[in-house]
Amino acid sequence: MERELEIRRRLREAGQEQLLRFWDELGSGERDSLLRELELLDARELREHCRRAQDAYVRESGAPQRLDHSMSPVPTEFLGSVRRSPPGELSAWEDEGYRQISQNKVAVLLLAGGQGTRLGVTYPKGMYRVGLPSRKTLYQIQAERILRVQQLAAEKYSTRCTVPWYIMTSEFTLNPTQKFFEEHKFFGIDQADVIMFEQRMLPAVGFDGKAILERKDKVAMAPDGNGGLYRALADNRILEDMEARGISYIHVYCVDNILVKMADPVFVGFCVSKGADCGAKVVEKSYPLEPVGVVCQVDGIYQVVEYSEVSPETAEKRNPDDSLTYNAGNICNHFFTLDFLKHVAGTSEQELGYHVAIKKVPYVDDEGNLVKPVRPNGIKMEKFVFDVFQFAKNFVAFEVVREEEFSPLKNADTADKDTATTARRSLLWQHYRWALKAGAKFTDANGRAKAEDSGDPEVEEPPAVCEISPLISYFGEGLDVHLSNKDLSSPFILDVQRV
Ligand code: UTP
Repeated sequence: MERELEIRRRLREAGQEQLLRFWDELGSGERDSLLRELELLDARELREHCRRAQDAYVRESGAPQRLDHSMSPVPTEFLGSVRRSPPGELSAWEDEGYRQISQNKVAVLLLAGGQGTRLGVTYPKGMYRVGLPSRKTLYQIQAERILRVQQLAAEKYSTRCTVPWYIMTSEFTLNPTQKFFEEHKFFGIDQADVIMFEQRMLPAVGFDGKAILERKDKVAMAPDGNGGLYRALADNRILEDMEARGISYIHVYCVDNILVKMADPVFVGFCVSKGADCGAKVVEKSYPLEPVGVVCQVDGIYQVVEYSEVSPETAEKRNPDDSLTYNAGNICNHFFTLDFLKHVAGTSEQELGYHVAIKKVPYVDDEGNLVKPVRPNGIKMEKFVFDVFQFAKNFVAFEVVREEEFSPLKNADTADKDTATTARRSLLWQHYRWALKAGAKFTDANGRAKAEDSGDPEVEEPPAVCEISPLISYFGEGLDVHLSNKDLSSPFILDVQRV
């Protein structure tokens, strides 16, 4: 009774008494679980959170604030490019990256706490199969890339080395992810080198500023955005773990990019060679008005500017060589030094603002029925991982080739972009190109050669299906020995069992 009274008092103070409106109908177990959830919410913070969410929603519903007049692009001396940097420089960066990996100084950190609402599956996105012939999931592909890049670094510098895999999960993804990894024996990685931790959750808020109930006995909670990383690092003492392992550099990436080059030696080497504390991989925009965030400076400070914050004239502005001035599309792929993360997680994190995400949040109506809304009805407050660029003392960006490194799985297959189909095609196109380059020939059922090595993964299947295990090739290397002068028929899978 005392607990209940205390919670009622707190909710009154927070203006959120509706969270107990089904109290009289709840059994003792349900009451207990609701009280336990509510006890974790501080009255003042809850009031602030709901007010901030509603204010931000009202603000964002108005005309977007344009940043055109304060923007400037990343200066060329801080921008590396796979396409434009001289080959000698690229290979020197790659060597440097492998050297750091071989000395156990590089870790990868996966952001896997998202709910994947647009994809619409009930399990973590990393467990998704995009329909590859091998039936591999995103998690398996990533695990195999880690194993291979470790092997390459070890061979190059004659060492034994490990790239620890930190995985940020949330209440939604932690248990299923853990179970999945256990079932698959951590895909051959030493379990001690896969470190999962959990980010915090925040209540989802209705447009009226009231926190939403998703069941009569449960508040609708959502993870606090991928920028919740910094608080989660501190909460879970992850930076101490990195320090104890001797890690100096961390490559942070999203779960949904099927082409992600984890611990990418070229990117890591570039950032280390430039003495960067914070770096972003970017891709050129596909077209001037493409709705992607752009990495640039605003009043001299680095940030990602959303497409809605830029006028079409600025988005279309060109340099004397005809390239777009604001061309650095953010792909959520970042480099941080451990010292930088310590600084952010220690103090600066609190300065990060929240972004508003308007989402469909299942709720119970006044009669207590569960409703799955067809239109967005709730506000989720999220921090973004890239909002820490502002704290960098030496920021760099590195432009990579989209077809080789970026193809995210965001949407269900009914959408026309960033779906399982486009992700699968991107990977199969890439492997097809690698195979041709290694000297393989594909023949069709009538023995005719198929040769095109470029196509649009958004709309076309590759001429032949070829899937190469990341355990054999991390980024197209070492394939001659398996494929040179080979006549292959589609579908072809090159995996360790078949070598
Ligand atoms: P998205 O912004 O695409 O969100 O996440 P999402 O949750 O995957 O999908 P939607 O928007 O609900 O459809 C980009 C990356 O950030 C991670 C995701 O797991 C993904 O790797 N993320 C997102 C987190 O780790 N935590 C969060 O709170 C949100």
